[in-house]
Amino acid sequence: MVPTLAFACAAVLASFSSVDALWPLPTGLSVGSTALRLSQSFDITVDVQGAPDDLNAAVNRTKSQLWNDKLERLVVGRGSVDADAISNAAELTSLTISLADGATVRSISEEAIDALESRDDSYTLSIPETGSGAVLKANSTLGLFRGLTTFSQLFYYYNDNVYTIEAPIDITDKPAYPYRGLMLDTSRNYFPVEDLERTLDAMSWVKINNFHWHVVDSQSFPLQIPGFTDLAEKGAYSSSMVYTPDDVSHLVSYAAERGIDVIVEMDTPGHTAIVSEAHPEYVACAGSAPWASSANEPPAGQLRFTEPAVVNFTADVFTALSKMFPSKLLSTGGDELNINCYDQDEVTQGTLNKTGKTLEQALDSFTQATHSALAQAGKTPIVWEEMVLDHNVTLSNETVIMVWISSDNVAAVAKKGFKIVHSASDYFYLDCGGGGWVGSSPSTNSWCDPFKTWQKSYTFDPTANLTAEESQLILGGQHLLWTEQSGPENLDPTVWPRAASSAELFWSGPALTNVSSALPRLHDVAYRMRQRGVKAISLQPLWCALRPGACDVSA
Ligand SMILES: *[C@@H]1O[C@H](CO)[C@@H](O)[C@H](O)[C@H]1NC(C)=O
Ligand SMILES: *[C@@H]1O[C@H](CO)[C@@H](O)[C@H](O)[C@H]1NC(C)=O
Ligand SMILES: *[C@@H]1O[C@H](CO)[C@@H](O)[C@H](O)[C@H]1NC(C)=O
Ligand SMILES: *[C@@H]1O[C@H](CO)[C@@H](O)[C@H](O)[C@H]1NC(C)=O
Ligand SMILES: *[C@@H]1O[C@H](CO)[C@@H](O)[C@H](O)[C@H]1NC(C)=O
Ligand SMILES: *[C@@H]1O[C@H](CO)[C@@H](O)[C@H](O)[C@H]1NC(C)=O
Ligand SMILES: *[C@@H]1O[C@H](CO)[C@@H](O)[C@H](O)[C@H]1NC(C)=O
Ligand SMILES: *[C@@H]1O[C@H](CO)[C@@H](O)[C@H](O)[C@H]1NC(C)=O
Repeated sequence: MVPTLAFACAAVLASFSSVDALWPLPTGLSVGSTALRLSQSFDITVDVQGAPDDLNAAVNRTKSQLWNDKLERLVVGRGSVDADAISNAAELTSLTISLADGATVRSISEEAIDALESRDDSYTLSIPETGSGAVLKANSTLGLFRGLTTFSQLFYYYNDNVYTIEAPIDITDKPAYPYRGLMLDTSRNYFPVEDLERTLDAMSWVKINNFHWHVVDSQSFPLQIPGFTDLAEKGAYSSSMVYTPDDVSHLVSYAAERGIDVIVEMDTPGHTAIVSEAHPEYVACAGSAPWASSANEPPAGQLRFTEPAVVNFTADVFTALSKMFPSKLLSTGGDELNINCYDQDEVTQGTLNKTGKTLEQALDSFTQATHSALAQAGKTPIVWEEMVLDHNVTLSNETVIMVWISSDNVAAVAKKGFKIVHSASDYFYLDCGGGGWVGSSPSTNSWCDPFKTWQKSYTFDPTANLTAEESQLILGGQHLLWTEQSGPENLDPTVWPRAASSAELFWSGPALTNVSSALPRLHDVAYRMRQRGVKAISLQPLWCALRPGACDVSA
């Protein structure tokens, strides 16, 4: 018994000690166990005719990361245990990157905002153990960018050496799902542009390709929209807590150069109390008390969508937003409509009486008008699940539905034939478990208790309870951060490395996920992020991170 057990433990530790720190795990991966170090003259050769600037910039960032990450391997003794292997290692002098024959040369930025299902993230990467050149190939500059990201995760630092101990390495990689996202709310609390840049950087390191920007909500309106600047003038927390059109175009470019599409959301017709600061006549139950009888959180206020002027205004704001954000996708929101607010609103009731419409019929007209403004601007709408499950509105079959209330609702949306992005609070909400925040009730829990661990989201099954045909409707998924209890000060620790778990689930696919074997790699993600200036949290004591498996309850 005893020798067998000892042997089993040794085998587990041995399998862990060769830690591929790659995240997300490539869908095709083979590694050896030979050390290989970067030559002092190591360079990345871009063998692409008329290489776009953003590809050259990505190459420059990769080189900088290779030399500056200075991450020592997470093993007892850290880098020093590799000293002998490094001193005998062959030197890698080059990585050559090129496009497949016949590929059209476009910039990463153009490819990053293509329609979701036509983006090609695939690449192959081959690093021989002899030190003869490494080769990265793809059909797209976007694929080359993904491959560069992988390359930079393979190398560690010790004593001025940058090296891998896993040569030869062969990777053939492509994502399981086209949508891998992160949603951030910048209305409950404001985040300066540099925080968004840092978040976009970290997203790109784990191959997240969509930033769902829930930019405005009832509490504040930080977005300056040309033609509608009074919304931010009167609705931002302060004149410095705004995103100007220049900020937006900077962030959209910054994201696109890193393979990320920025999908803006203006949540309507609910979650719009702040619009009343500029247009009191457009908003029902604005600031009404007690807020709890007409909203899920303070302040109350929702667009009077029965009014032709409000329909016109909202459609025009969406047209203006469409011009600011080049993405093909744009979210019109649609969650948590409070019917009591409209029942109590004289203007709404008067119009319904006059037109003979029901509230649902008026909501349908409003939705068709706003979505037709999007269609004219060439955009595909995204809406929250209630627009399909709780309301009777006409949606084009291309509409993308985000299921947030519960993963249990995914099957019902799929039954109606809509495309879906998993966003369920029971797996992917980053804000749960922080306790209640409504002041007079300080002992309450957060509504979506408990805290959602990385293990919870990582083990989500994207096609649970779906038929094979319904499973085709799943575009991917995302983590989400609502910021009632977050600001710049805790952004990184709240998001990272947790959000990396959905990034891997939806890139590598559920068949490759395994919490036990993922943990050492996720430690690596967190430590590398910290080397790059992102304050990812510790998942365990460093003692455990250096001894994979040793802190398991069974160890
Ligand atoms: C990349 O770095 C090289 C060498 O420092 C520099 O000449 C070039 O302008 C950089 N390219 C971009 C697009 O940043
Ligand atoms: C490129 O496209 C071809 C044809 O669609 C595909 O077989 C291949 O896997 C793609 N990726 C790479 C890296 O060549
Ligand atoms: C809204 O009204 C303005 C001014 O009457 C008009 O120019 C605009 O086309 C209308 N928008 C929609 C979406 O009907
Ligand atoms: C709308 O009509 C109903 C019944 O027809 C009436 O009870 C109600 O007072 C009317 N409301 C308004 C705001 O005119
Ligand atoms: C939903 O809308 C359709 C078309 O507008 C209508 O025929 C149907 O009666 C409505 N159903 C409900 C439950 O309101
Ligand atoms: C939507 O309907 C059009 C026209 O019937 C069809 O070509 C398209 O495939 C449908 N899309 C989805 C996602 O079902
Ligand atoms: C699948 O259905 C089972 C049984 O109804 C339920 O317990 C589970 O939560 C569902 N899973 C998802 C992801 O919807
Ligand atoms: C998950 O990984 C652990 C550690 O590598 C391994 O012991 C276990 O067999 C794996 N589980 C599955 C289902 O592959």
